[in-house]
Amino acid sequence: MPAQSDKQPDAPDIILSLREVTKAFTSPAGQQVRVLDGVTFDICRGECLVIMGGSGCGKSTLLNCLIGELRTNSGQIFCKTRDADEPLEITQLDEQALDRIRRKFGILFQNGALLNSLTVEQNVALPLREHTKLDDSIVDIVCTLKLEQVRMLSHRDKMPAQLSGGQKKRAGLARALALDPEILYYDEPSAGLDPVTSATIDELIIDLTRKLNVTSVVVTHEMDSAFRIADRMVMLDKGRVLRIGPRSEFERIRATPASQLTSRDDRLINQFLNGLPTGPLTDTEGISEFEQIIVTGQGWPE
Ligand SMILES: Nc1ncnc2c1ncn2[C@@H]1O[C@H](COP(=O)(O)OP(=O)(O)OP(=O)(O)O)[C@@H](O)[C@H]1O
Ligand SMILES: [Mg+2]
Repeated sequence: MPAQSDKQPDAPDIILSLREVTKAFTSPAGQQVRVLDGVTFDICRGECLVIMGGSGCGKSTLLNCLIGELRTNSGQIFCKTRDADEPLEITQLDEQALDRIRRKFGILFQNGALLNSLTVEQNVALPLREHTKLDDSIVDIVCTLKLEQVRMLSHRDKMPAQLSGGQKKRAGLARALALDPEILYYDEPSAGLDPVTSATIDELIIDLTRKLNVTSVVVTHEMDSAFRIADRMVMLDKGRVLRIGPRSEFERIRATPASQLTSRDDRLINQFLNGLPTGPLTDTEGISEFEQIIVTGQGWPE
């Protein structure tokens, strides 16, 4: 992250900055498999950034590194919260400091991750009881406010098992909002929801990003959803950043016929965004003649 003195008056207010982040896991055969490979980009305060990429390309791993849940192998992740004079380097923090900075993060896990033994309201109150010394009456007011924000007030006394998938997501979101986070992380917020419910979750994400001026970082596979909510998008491929840019850039690539796209990266993005069965993601296009022979078995010299 640039030093304060380098900052131009109209420079974007960067809240998160990733520099050459690398993460590898050990395979069952004992080999190191690199899942994130030199990931570098910035996230601006107040924007909604959508992270996209094929299954297994490292999106959830990246989210887990951003929240300090997973330790990176190398690289840096800077986070500049409002109350801090200087950005903190997340990968260098001890557990106590990590715990402090995590209070600035709201996280909506894929399944909502509600505790089944607690009511909706008790679930929302959980972070307040764990991390603050607020009076019961204040906790009650905050819970009411958060449940109202996600339009779940009428369900406050229900158990998670009595909720639909969309309601669970909204309750999880109310809990993620409990400590007034500066950054909201969402992993597949519309997974498993019907298109209408998914659209209402998108509305909420847009609403919360704008009204509360939070920064939203959203991993999603749902392209309709991605194009509804994103200010900017980042496409990962094989653990690397293939492209990052404003939504309009991705809209242009999506709308352009693949035959008119000259770069392979653009054609790959086009295939992904349009969900096409053929193209650089699935083809032998772009690989060497020798590799094509290996893959297709065709073209061996007579
Ligand atoms: N804890 C772990 N130990 C070993 N390998 C892991 C671990 N977590 C993830 N991986 C591997 O890392 C790769 C990336 O996984 P990740 O969950 O980040 O992908 P993803 O992009 O979120 O995929 P999806 O879209 O399916 O959710 C996968 O090959 C996965 O098997
Ligand atoms: Mg994932």
